[in-house]
Amino acid sequence: MEKIRRTKIADVFKAPKFGSTVDVKGWVRTIRGNKYVNFIHINDGSTVHNLQIVADVEKFGIDFFKPITTGACIHVVGTLVESQGKGQNAEIQADSIEVYGTADPETYPLQKKGHSLEFLREIAYLRPRTNTFGAVFRIRHHMAYAIHKYFNDNGFYYFHTPIITASDAEGAGSMFQATTLDLNNVPRTETGEVDYSKDFFGGATNLTVSGQLEGELGAMALGAIYTFGPTFRAENSNTPRHLAEFWMIEPEMAFYDIHDNMDLAEDFLKYLIRYALEYCKDDIEFLCEHFDKELLDRLNAVVANDFVRLTYTEGVEILEKSGQKFEYPVYWGADLQSEHERYLVENHFKRPVILTDYPKEIKSFYMKQNEDGKTVRGMDVLFPKIGEIIGGSEREADYDKLVQRTKELNMNTDPIWWYMETRRFGTAPHAGFGLGFERLILFITGMTNIRDVIPFPRTPNNAEF
Ligand code: 4AD
Ligand code: MG
Repeated sequence: MEKIRRTKIADVFKAPKFGSTVDVKGWVRTIRGNKYVNFIHINDGSTVHNLQIVADVEKFGIDFFKPITTGACIHVVGTLVESQGKGQNAEIQADSIEVYGTADPETYPLQKKGHSLEFLREIAYLRPRTNTFGAVFRIRHHMAYAIHKYFNDNGFYYFHTPIITASDAEGAGSMFQATTLDLNNVPRTETGEVDYSKDFFGGATNLTVSGQLEGELGAMALGAIYTFGPTFRAENSNTPRHLAEFWMIEPEMAFYDIHDNMDLAEDFLKYLIRYALEYCKDDIEFLCEHFDKELLDRLNAVVANDFVRLTYTEGVEILEKSGQKFEYPVYWGADLQSEHERYLVENHFKRPVILTDYPKEIKSFYMKQNEDGKTVRGMDVLFPKIGEIIGGSEREADYDKLVQRTKELNMNTDPIWWYMETRRFGTAPHAGFGLGFERLILFITGMTNIRDVIPFPRTPNNAEF
């Protein structure tokens, strides 16, 4: 007999050739049956929909089915027939079944009943095998691809910025050190400080918090670049929106001002949502049905409406006049909390908001300074359910102003001397922003905890798997 090739389950449903012989492989989600027939539902990760295998008990013998329990992996060859029941269009009448691997029902943690997301986090090594996480991680993949496609189609170059760096891009100081020094026997200088000249790189280094500074160098040569890589922040913030290791997309463009930057951010986000609606339809519908009934409406609303653009000062006025009780006080100069951001988006404007021109004290040193001496050309894009999804700015292109700002902040510019120099060699207006990849995935999937949109989350006290 001619050997037939394995078909992915998604392809079985896409164009079913009834009457043909198919070869499928997958993990058992459920098995139920009676004296005559067993119905085995399998999933191979290619779609959220399970494929039903119909197996004659007499043909295989009762004992044959004993090892075929939830979690086992099987290989089935059989005839594709039109499905009688509701649900999928096709099912398979099994001719042969091979068991690749069993999963002891006594110890396999994923039984068919619905598990809580909290429990599934504890077994992150198996949770991709659930419908929910299968859907989330497929969407995550498609979004990563769409990001590259968007930038490639629009003439941006993918620019790889380093993971290990000597600079603190955000000046926030919450960095993971990268060292090969023996922590039990740290070399010291004569004055008792750690002697980093003995360290691997001959100086202190850390994991990057942002690729922006090097990204700017790329933009000032290639015109428009983007980064897309992991970033690390050792903030001890145990919130549903923060990870210690997260992925960030950072476009940086020469000759863009803050308005061009906002136009790009809005167009980019709408493109990604439209892409998800087109290419992740089944998975989004599944998540909508099981977790968040308003998900589809919310996605469609963001695509359909213009984002509101207003200054931080105007935003704070609205919040002060709102009469709303917030946990954190709001006043001019305060760093806005997600409750404030969400009030503007969800209650006041009922659409995404781009806030601009923040007080310089609460933003990074590199943002372009406004004439008023108080605010900078920063912009945050605020989304429903999320709050800040993008942070960015027009950059300070003037050497003297940049130097003066770093002095006001008492910054040591030695590790970023090269960044400062670019303002002396062919400086130009430029701008960029950072999109938190996991925050985007939160929005697209309707999940509410950032730990549930990355396969293996890193948070304070947790680096398992
Ligand atoms: O606002 P942030 O800190 O901006 C920067 O890092 C700039 N260098 C970006 C730029 O202009 N090129 O971070 C950007 C985005 C935030 O808006 C948020 O979506 C996400 O990154 N983010 C986090 N996501 C998950 N966990 C964390 N701890 C995050 N911190 C920031
Ligand atoms: Mg920010």
